[in-house]
This record gives sequence, structure tokens and C-alpha cells, in this order.
Amino acid sequence: MKLTRGFLLIGFLFIGGLWAWPLSAAEDPASLFAGICSVCHGVGGKGDGPAATGLHPKPADFTDCKVMAADSDQALLKIIKEGGQSVGRSTVMPSWKDSLSDDQIRSLVKYIRGLCKK
Ligand code: HEC
Repeated sequence: MKLTRGFLLIGFLFIGGLWAWPLSAAEDPASLFAGICSVCHGVGGKGDGPAATGLHPKPADFTDCKVMAADSDQALLKIIKEGGQSVGRSTVMPSWKDSLSDDQIRSLVKYIRGLCKK
């Protein structure tokens, strides 16, 4: 019947959409950063997120190239993966290796590098 086929098609599109949505969102470093990093690091990466008030040390200003030049990509990768404690930095910076893939962490490093403007 035509009607059943229509419903099936809508059903498949719906399920397909549900699958594709979180995957594509998860691959996009900008939405990852806005979703899980910005509470501390600030939406623009300046280290001024709402949860950063009262933190010592505060998250670095990712928009300041001089500050960011001090850390290699490897160092950024490691602190995101293993957390601040792993490199003798603030324990407030969480470890993300259980919730993010290596690819996602690499894309976040690239994204953070792209924030430095001055
Ligand atoms: C609960 C607050 C918090 C969250 C959430 C958080 N961070 Fe951090 N992060 C920090 C703090 C605090 C530091 C500073 C550590 C230090 O300098 O001792 C830091 C440091 C860093 C650094 C090293 C550069 C620097 O600031 O000195 C990178 C890179 C980084 N975070 C990336 C991320 C990414 C990517 C996410 C999201 C996946 C994230 N952080 C989520 C608090 C947070």
C-alpha cells in the first residue's frame, strides 16, 4: 500500500536523522568547544567562562598568541586528553580521554590554535 510505504520512508528518514545529528555535531570542534569547554574557557576562548570565576590559575587566554606559543600542540593534546593534573597544572582542567576520541581532541587543538588573533 502506498500509505505504508510513505510511513516507512518517513520512519527511515527520521531514524537516519537521529543518527546523523549527534555524529555531525560531535565532529564539529566549534560546537564541542561551545558545549563542553566554554563553561570554563569562555565561548571565545578567553578563559572567561562562567565557571572560571574564582579559579586559580584561570584557564589561559586562547586568543593571546604569545601565551599560546609557550605550549606545543603535543602539550595541548596531552592536557586535553589526560587533564591538568597529568602535566602538573590545575586539577580543575578535566581529562577528556574517556568522553572524546583522539580525532575530536586533535580537532579541538586545531580549533584552539585558530582562536589566537593577537
Ligand atoms: C571545569 C573547567 C574546565 C573545563 C570544562 C575545561 N577546562 Fe581546559 N582548563 C581549565 C583550567 C582551570 C586550565 C588551566 C590549567 C593551568 O594553567 O593550570 C585549563 C587548561 C586548558 C588547556 C591548556 C592551556 C591553558 O589554558 O593553560 C587547554 C588546551 C584546555 N584547557 C582545553 C580544554 C578543552 C578543549 C576543553 C573541552 C573539551 C576544556 N579545556 C574544558 C579548566 C577547564
